[in-house]
Amino acid sequence: MAPSDPWWKEAVFYQIYPRSFADSDGDGVGDLAGIRARLPELAWLGVDALWISPFYPSPMVDFGYDISDYCDVDPQFGTLEDFDRLLHEAHALGLRVIIDWVPNHTSDRHPWFVDAVSGRASAHRNWYVWRDPTPEGSPPNNWVAAFDPSAPAWTFDEPSGQWYLHLFESAQPDLNWDEPAVVEAMHQVLRFWLDRGVDGFRADVVHCIGKDPGLPDDPGSVAGIPHCALNDVPVTHRRLREIRNLVDGYPGGRVMVGEVFLLSTRAVATYYGDGDELHLAFNFPPLFAPWQEGHWTECIERTVAALDPRAAWPTWVLSNHDNPRHRSRYDRAAAFLGEAEETTEARSEPRARAAAVLLLTLRGTPFLFQGEELGLLDASIPPDRQVDPGGRDGCRAPIPWNGRSDHGWPSVNGRQPWLPFPPESFRNHEDQRADATSMLHLYRRLIAVRRRAPALSRGGFDLLELPDGLLGFRRTMGDEVWVVVVNFTDHRIDHVRQPPVGDGWRLVVSSNGLGEGAPFDGTIGPDQAVVLTG
Ligand code: NOJ
Repeated sequence: MAPSDPWWKEAVFYQIYPRSFADSDGDGVGDLAGIRARLPELAWLGVDALWISPFYPSPMVDFGYDISDYCDVDPQFGTLEDFDRLLHEAHALGLRVIIDWVPNHTSDRHPWFVDAVSGRASAHRNWYVWRDPTPEGSPPNNWVAAFDPSAPAWTFDEPSGQWYLHLFESAQPDLNWDEPAVVEAMHQVLRFWLDRGVDGFRADVVHCIGKDPGLPDDPGSVAGIPHCALNDVPVTHRRLREIRNLVDGYPGGRVMVGEVFLLSTRAVATYYGDGDELHLAFNFPPLFAPWQEGHWTECIERTVAALDPRAAWPTWVLSNHDNPRHRSRYDRAAAFLGEAEETTEARSEPRARAAAVLLLTLRGTPFLFQGEELGLLDASIPPDRQVDPGGRDGCRAPIPWNGRSDHGWPSVNGRQPWLPFPPESFRNHEDQRADATSMLHLYRRLIAVRRRAPALSRGGFDLLELPDGLLGFRRTMGDEVWVVVVNFTDHRIDHVRQPPVGDGWRLVVSSNGLGEGAPFDGTIGPDQAVVLTG
């Protein structure tokens, strides 16, 4: 790759879920001023870019993914001026900022939908997807909404006698991208934020902005799978090319990262087009992979096979705001693989550390989710505090900034944060920053070595043939050669010194911190990952 390659190929992204990141005003909900105050911590960690999940006005049925105004800030999060200040200060620290763009659906309180639902003749009626009932009075097709396999993706509007489509909650009606005015309005949203200086977007379920015009039933073989995980039609690619043109028309290399929530990596790969659709698309299988060498090798092989190196650059992600955190998953994955309960808890931290090594050394752009650098587990949410319709509260617990009782979340009038904190109060930013052996420092060292050694971000990649239970790969650029090896087993493995690893090779980063800087002795402990160079 040439040195003129876009910044986002080398960048490490950090996802901020604003409700849970940092609270400046003591109302128990994080906000933009809270993020601004913590920018120095993010710069210290060494990440290059922030992705900020939605902060727009919203009734919060889906905690901001139900937007009632695309071009403003919800008062809970602050004001447009707060956003401008945040962007300015992030840029001054060398941090780029991308924001969520939610093109598939609005809130049912968005003025467009309020007008659309007011009657069949309304100006915005065709901005949404309406259909007459079948002769039996049932929904137009069998599509299932997200979150509840028994919920149809249609809601009946009594006054007008028609159904409207919503691939998510009924409070999130789908926009009709066949209507040119919708396309123009959503392009205008992109321009609004690009003009303000954002570095790009994370496009929510962007593969859903095209629908099969006949709205055919989903096959019986996938009954119960939400339609948003199946929707894959040609027209979306034309729409993405138009979006790409718009974004590329801005200076500075803005980026469009798409959430293409389809089950096959091959299908996701098509959304890069011929290098003229999405710049990046999330690669979700690692987000569901148990801690098992075979699963990880398969994820990597599939990714390499599916993405055309001339048109598509991979991405890697372990956790996000929609799924259990990987440390929590690795606890359970171990139980699933038949290990004794007591060993799993002790092993989830080493596993999460080794996974961080993979995330930050595989070929592609890594996306961190806030708090994974602390090794957080999901919070356990008592039933009376559960708020998310999709049952995703656990991974959205507030970030503990210190070990004091409020964890850095000021309480006004005794207000608790909107969700309980994660367990293990020693896992907080302040204490881990003071402890060079912490997970936080491991992430920082990995990010730093990645920046120092371009082979680890932009270099060539090939998997090594290693004994079962070990996963290893080589990263190369010119004369520079690096090798990463991960031991997925519960026992030490010796003599891991086949070529290219030889005499004089050094251990540069070790997931447990041991032996760093020393010659590599060929030994890898259980659940340990090592980054080596010759
Ligand atoms: C994907 C987002 O990540 C998720 O949080 C949201 O519920 C759906 N899209 C709907 O916008």
